[in-house]
Amino acid sequence: MITVFGSINLDLVVSLPRLPAPGETVVGPDHQSFPGGKGANQALAAARAGASVRMIGAVGQDAHAEAALVNLERAGVDLSGVRHLDGTTGIAMIGVDGRGENLIMCASGVNARVVAEWLDGRLARGDLLVLQRELSAGPIAEAIGRARLCGARILLNAAPSGAGELAGLVGDVDVLVANAGEAAELAAALEGSESVVPEAHCAALAGGRRLAVITLGARGLVAQQGEQRWRVAAPSVEVVDTTGAGDAFVGALAAALDRGADIERALCEGTAAGALACKASGAQSSSPDDRAIATLADTLECESIAG
Ligand code: RIB
Repeated sequence: MITVFGSINLDLVVSLPRLPAPGETVVGPDHQSFPGGKGANQALAAARAGASVRMIGAVGQDAHAEAALVNLERAGVDLSGVRHLDGTTGIAMIGVDGRGENLIMCASGVNARVVAEWLDGRLARGDLLVLQRELSAGPIAEAIGRARLCGARILLNAAPSGAGELAGLVGDVDVLVANAGEAAELAAALEGSESVVPEAHCAALAGGRRLAVITLGARGLVAQQGEQRWRVAAPSVEVVDTTGAGDAFVGALAAALDRGADIERALCEGTAAGALACKASGAQSSSPDDRAIATLADTLECESIAG
């Protein structure tokens, strides 16, 4: 069983000819709204990848709440741990340019009032707890403590930026997923590294026993556990919108690890899901199902490389 402790948003997305610089206005034709939030996106991605998933989080009592949850409901995610609080549902305002790159601004709304106590009675030995950084820091730390106490495994996604704040928590984590920027922030906080080369951060993020995964966008990933290091090259796909690709990666990786797949296969399935998620607009619309993931993952190679 996977339990996702994380954010739930409604995404307001505008396609733009290019992303604005600070102080600039760039005009696009129209906007679309999609369910989003890193926690919800990862829960949906894990469910579509075949896992049993429970979501713990909050929406407001406003017009956005139902729309934010619709995909999770359809995918059969257990929403009994999602509270409807007096306040506003989290919102993300997202610009996407012609190359699929994005710029995201979030308003937390009731995501800021999610507390770790909501996990009580909902985690068991062997479960996988999946967390990101869109909730407040205190509840994230407390959730990790609770998972440790009851013998659940912990996957922490260092997104969004500001990952240096996590340095005190990674020692309790079984699987750590960061993009290149987040990995650099964490390595700087953990061991004062100034390197911008992702491979240079593998050992620091892995520590002694952890599986550390550094995602590299169109370049794929590098990962390390113990003395073993791997690389997976990303397949080439026609990119429409990269929003949520990292979440699709995390959800599919979590689903594979939860069902007991070996690390190499789990890394290939995560990579396949992340690539497929770039093929349509919206963070959740393009989240692939288990068959699409397996078909593409079969074509990928997880290569052992020197550490
Ligand atoms: O990772 C993508 C997500 O980040 C979006 O869905 C948006 O809600 C923000 O949380």
